[in-house]
Amino acid sequence: MLLSFVLHLLCLWHLIGVFGEMKSVSVMEEDSVTLHTEMTDISDHDVIEWTFVTESTSLVKIKVMAGSITLYDGADERFRNTLKVNHQTGDLTITHTTITHSGLYQLKTITGVSKNFNLNVYARLPVPVIIRDSSQCSSSSKCVLVCSVVNVTHVTLSWYKGNSLLSSISVSDLNSLSLPLEVEYQENNTYSCVINNPIRNQTKHLNITEVCQMCSDVIRSCDSTEAVIRLVVSALMGVAAVAAIVVLGYDIRSRRLEQKRSQTSHVLTSGH
Ligand SMILES: *[C@@H]1O[C@H](CO)[C@@H](O)[C@H](O)[C@H]1NC(C)=O
Ligand SMILES: *[C@@H]1O[C@H](CO)[C@@H](O)[C@H](O)[C@H]1NC(C)=O
Ligand SMILES: *[C@@H]1O[C@H](CO)[C@@H](O)[C@H](O)[C@H]1NC(C)=O
Ligand SMILES: *[C@@H]1O[C@H](CO)[C@@H](O)[C@H](O)[C@H]1NC(C)=O
Repeated sequence: MLLSFVLHLLCLWHLIGVFGEMKSVSVMEEDSVTLHTEMTDISDHDVIEWTFVTESTSLVKIKVMAGSITLYDGADERFRNTLKVNHQTGDLTITHTTITHSGLYQLKTITGVSKNFNLNVYARLPVPVIIRDSSQCSSSSKCVLVCSVVNVTHVTLSWYKGNSLLSSISVSDLNSLSLPLEVEYQENNTYSCVINNPIRNQTKHLNITEVCQMCSDVIRSCDSTEAVIRLVVSALMGVAAVAAIVVLGYDIRSRRLEQKRSQTSHVLTSGH
């Protein structure tokens, strides 16, 4: 029992030794990031090596004694012209990050230092777009809006009223996102749509007058079309009415004439 516990502890110890410390580092795409060795005094006899574990690629080998630094681009050259090494500290800097630099980095020295860094490179955030949901244009005092973004990963899209969160939606894969909101025409312009990832956000403020007006224009043009149709219809009806009166008038006159004639003939016959 005790033996198994000790063995377990040893095993844990071993695992910690293998994996070393793990540090999470986040950066926005295109920005520069530095992985710090935090080694205060590097021995002259040390050899420091940085590896991109995710692709099993050696990145840097620093031989302190020999005063030599060797940089590798990686098999697919994804690190080409982006690596810098601090001669004193051994810190590794990626000067122009891309999404493909995301992954696990390992620092190892022959004196026994082992550190791991999990680097997350986040894509630039687009500014959210707010449009009116024109399929709901006809609704009376409400204006239905949609906030959307395309081509995004690992982001959350939210509607805020002032500082309070109204609703939000998240996506982890490359996708497009949209989130609806219903507002009154008379409301103050305190709404905003915010896209954010774990390190940044991008805000689009809603201008109700601007966004909701576009739709009332659509309605107005609908109205004028309707007015034209009404005009045409009533004109046709007018023509029809006139025609009917003419026909009717002719009918009445001719009937009267007939009546007169028959009365006359009646009078004539009765006169016999
Ligand atoms: C979305 O991303 C794909 C591939 O990266 C690209 O071809 C497309 O143009 C992008 N669409 C928009 C609207 O940005
Ligand atoms: C709009 O804001 C003003 C001042 O901030 C406030 O007096 C008014 O009541 C607000 N109107 C609405 C409809 O919230
Ligand atoms: C957006 O980021 C800024 C700092 O960059 C922060 O002050 C603000 O609270 C963030 N807004 C939201 C809605 O997350
Ligand atoms: C909102 O939009 C209207 C119409 O385009 C404009 O006159 C007004 O200045 C805008 N308000 C804000 C706060 O941007």
